[in-house]
Amino acid sequence: MCGIVAYVGPKDAAPILLEGLQRLEYRGYDSAGLAVVNAKSLRTRKVKGRVADLAAAVPAKFKGTIGIGHTRWATHGAPSDVNAHPHLDQEQRIAVVHNGIIENADELRRRLEGEGVKFESETDSEVLSHLIGRMVKDTDSLREAVLRALKSVVGTYGIAVVDAQRPGEIVVARNGSPIVLGLGEKEMFAASDVAALIRYTRQVVHLEDGELAVIKADGFTTFTSDARETAKEPFTVDWDAGHYDNGGYEHYLLKEISEQPETVARTLRGRMDDRFHIAHLGGLNMDARETRSFRRVKIIGCGSAYYSGQMGAQLIEELARIPADAEPASEFRYRSPVVEPDTLYVAISQSGETYDTLAAVQELKRKGGRVLGIVNTVGSAIARETDGGIYLHAGPEVSVASTKAFTSTAVAFALLALHLGRVRDLSPADGRRICEGLRRLPEQIEEILTLEDRIKELAKKYADAPGMMFVGRVRGYPVAREGAQKLKEISYVHAEAYPASELKHGPLALISPELPTVAIVPDDELLDKNLTTLGEIRARHGRILMVGHRTSEAADDCIVVPKNEVELDPILLTIPLQLFAYHAAVALDRDVDRPRNLAKSVTVE
Ligand code: F6R
Repeated sequence: MCGIVAYVGPKDAAPILLEGLQRLEYRGYDSAGLAVVNAKSLRTRKVKGRVADLAAAVPAKFKGTIGIGHTRWATHGAPSDVNAHPHLDQEQRIAVVHNGIIENADELRRRLEGEGVKFESETDSEVLSHLIGRMVKDTDSLREAVLRALKSVVGTYGIAVVDAQRPGEIVVARNGSPIVLGLGEKEMFAASDVAALIRYTRQVVHLEDGELAVIKADGFTTFTSDARETAKEPFTVDWDAGHYDNGGYEHYLLKEISEQPETVARTLRGRMDDRFHIAHLGGLNMDARETRSFRRVKIIGCGSAYYSGQMGAQLIEELARIPADAEPASEFRYRSPVVEPDTLYVAISQSGETYDTLAAVQELKRKGGRVLGIVNTVGSAIARETDGGIYLHAGPEVSVASTKAFTSTAVAFALLALHLGRVRDLSPADGRRICEGLRRLPEQIEEILTLEDRIKELAKKYADAPGMMFVGRVRGYPVAREGAQKLKEISYVHAEAYPASELKHGPLALISPELPTVAIVPDDELLDKNLTTLGEIRARHGRILMVGHRTSEAADDCIVVPKNEVELDPILLTIPLQLFAYHAAVALDRDVDRPRNLAKSVTVE
């Protein structure tokens, strides 16, 4: 989604803003722009296209030690130079960059036009610069002007505002769209994502919804929308700039797939106890008695996070014998869910900023629900909003499609299931079996990664199919769903996932040589049933790529992965499907790390 960077300090702002915008490129955008203040006047550059195009458009002498920058993802108004941010007021005194959506923009626009304001762009965001521009004349305080302007705004925003007449300060505000402050040595930064700051500082402060900040070179103040000052403790981000490099890989996606032996090991590190075969999850903030008291587990997340939640629900039911299910957070939040005191809610998010998931967590909290977070980004909104949880420690995920966060989430669920199970009926022997299985995962992932050349061949073979079917039973079904999701989002090949058992209830009609099937066939108690399904597909002349623990003559091609415990096999079975989707996308010449129409973290509704 859109990205914001802001800088105030002794240095020239433009190179810092451009560097920050480059770091935000992975979120997806269609235009970019920046504004700096010099000698009490604003200088701006805005272009449709990439940050490199913006950098080329910024003259070498673009002086100014305070400025704001933006990458835009078009919502209101097509991608174009004028629609790009920053937006200015009529006197060219105020410049604003905005993430989010102003819901009453049409009404505000009509009002302002009625008062003689001429709009330059078709964006909803431009109302902000005009509103603030009008207020600043009355108050002569940027902070006051922003506070007053935001009172008439309905919608979500993360904003950064500069005033040419007050070139020592930037005002930022957050409501539903992240803003993080970066604390430097006699310089301050703000951004929508720590990725933009990490080269300059790892000391950060996250704003809460409804919070604003004034940042100056020598410090910052934060306050609420009713002007009450708030106290904030900075914390140190444990990722550094190196985590955001592509490490010599052609794509971030391949880098992140290849990192999984290490990222899974990091998720597990220090969390298993060999004496009692239990999981240590101190972040849950729950004692054994409370842990035993839950009678249901409800998991929410969006997209791949939701599919990893389905895997998690399966793990919890099997290991802890507590009824568990997963639901898209985007649906959950809108259906006025019944929130019960004996249900444990678990929200999953890589970014920790997905708006639908955050809104679902907030709804749960309003209704008194106990919510844990399984989150990758430390200090993110969902991490802060939940009552406790498990950090993935997978490092930043840059490619739009989620891979290492998916596997780490599934591993975190295995730990949670072990924890919930061992305070109930899971025996020490089974606890030990699961701990040993978890320990084997990194090495087994390493082994799967050695199959890359073979998977690449298969991806090329199947990539020209107009569509693909993914099927799996019970434990294999979330694997199939995630496999289909990866393929469709990065290769644009239509992919549909079905429980294998459901084929005969409808989708079997689709099976033909033109619609190959990827079948997830683990060696578990459902093996025979799965092999029967392959026979049914075969009888309809469907081509089959089987992913499992053995080869079968019923399939045209097979990918054989190492076997773990049945409960943990789904984690390993997912990895060849990531490689398959990646190589299909490369074979089709897709923009692998930035698939069309998608953004890394969806901070709008
Ligand atoms: C798929 C993908 C998305 C995200 C979803 C949730 O590869 O990346 O489906 O999983 O948008 O994002 P987070 O986990 O950041 O809440």
